Amino acid sequence: MTASARPQTLWLGRWGFVLAATGSSVGLGNIWKFPYMTGEYGGGAFVLVYLLCIALIGVPIMMAEIAVGRRGRANPVEAVRRVARESGCRGLWSGLGWMSMICGFMILSFYVVVAGWSISYLWKALSGGLQAESVDGMAAIFAANNANPWNLGFWSTLVTIVTMLIVGKGVQAGIERSVRWMMPGLVVMLALMIGYAVVSADFSAGVHFLFDFNVGELTGEAVLAAMGHAFFTLSLAAGAIIAYGAYLPANQSIVRTTLTVAICDTLVALMAGLAIFPVIFANGMDPASGPGLIFMSLPLAFQAMPFGGVMEVVFFLMLTVAALTSSISMIEATVAWLNQSHGLTRRRAAWGVGIVLWVISTLAMLSFNVGAEWKLAGKHFFDWLDFLTSRLMMPLGGLGMALLTGFFLRRRAIREELAMPSWLFGLWQFAVRYVSPIAIVVVFLDALGWLGTGFDWRWLAAILVVGLAVETGLRKRASRADEAVG
Ligand code: PHE
Repeated sequence: MTASARPQTLWLGRWGFVLAATGSSVGLGNIWKFPYMTGEYGGGAFVLVYLLCIALIGVPIMMAEIAVGRRGRANPVEAVRRVARESGCRGLWSGLGWMSMICGFMILSFYVVVAGWSISYLWKALSGGLQAESVDGMAAIFAANNANPWNLGFWSTLVTIVTMLIVGKGVQAGIERSVRWMMPGLVVMLALMIGYAVVSADFSAGVHFLFDFNVGELTGEAVLAAMGHAFFTLSLAAGAIIAYGAYLPANQSIVRTTLTVAICDTLVALMAGLAIFPVIFANGMDPASGPGLIFMSLPLAFQAMPFGGVMEVVFFLMLTVAALTSSISMIEATVAWLNQSHGLTRRRAAWGVGIVLWVISTLAMLSFNVGAEWKLAGKHFFDWLDFLTSRLMMPLGGLGMALLTGFFLRRRAIREELAMPSWLFGLWQFAVRYVSPIAIVVVFLDALGWLGTGFDWRWLAAILVVGLAVETGLRKRASRADEAVG
């Protein structure tokens, strides 16, 4: 059967795409990573740069990914190949699709371990296993949870099985049906958490920490970390958004859906901060305690507060739900690829991928116990997966997508998909042609350690201003040429 003769799967409900894509973006990145990064980088100034990165880099690239997915109407490998071919570009571009699909798979291989922490903490919260005298005591609970490979493996295997069950059921019956109740549930739990922070914790300390900023505190490293996180949190360059975009009905606006998803994702990150920091401050704890913030400091803080036990359950349930709706999106690309390009049924594809994923994620899980000494260049397998994806593949994939849609695809094709007024299209084009590539190259050079530690973020601003000037000049020339022809 040719691709065009194949009946096209689309999201059923009007909110299908928005719910699924928001489910993808809102995840451990928002509730686990964003708060601890904000804590480590000192609060408001980091938050401000993060917001700028979402608006200037993340949103335009997300629009590009959805446009490519929808125009290609297939999994990322096939979709990128089709849109490139349509514009007369080389088949080589499908490498971009390959990289993003593999990137999603690799992220999931370590994401299921962290999601496993979430479920195991939900279980501990329910069964009263989160009691300790001090942060050290909580750290010991965390360490014990990791030390036994059978225990940790059990939880990450559980996440893998649930993810594959949902994805195997299909786009509408599996993914759309689960996000339809998981996402509203998440919002309700988050609202509960914030209400609790207002009533029983130091809410204003949390607000000040998140929103008071002092530009002087900004370090180059914080800027770069914020940029990398913008990619991760919006699920960019990992196949997820292209894959979901392929099911977006033709009559839905890409601009509007992207803005909705990005705003929801940002709000959830900020709300997670507003739920967590007041509790941390009310108990005089250190916001800069790193990745253990929600697994060590937070449970200890809850323990000291009225109804803390209930809130702890709500919190870890919320974390688990958020992790699952992201997990399913990371693997949709691979399952859709096996299904569409290799004729496997979705169920078979899901179980096949699940087995390979299980093997790799088990290796990642072993980094915390049996394989604590297995290191390559000082990094565990788990850390390698994280490093390769968020420091190398995501920036590279984002760069590729920005260049493909900004310079290589036919203007008419991309304009048709984006369907926006010309001034907005001009802004979008400026963002994908100059802002994103330049910013990404800076992130990339930093990841490779070529910028040293003293990178001054003002350079970036200067480069962008020059870019804007050049672009405005070029645009004037192009429109004059158009007039001359017309
Ligand atoms: N955006 C998700 C989060 O914040 C992670 C993710 C990355 C999901 C890449 C899909 C693809 O947790």
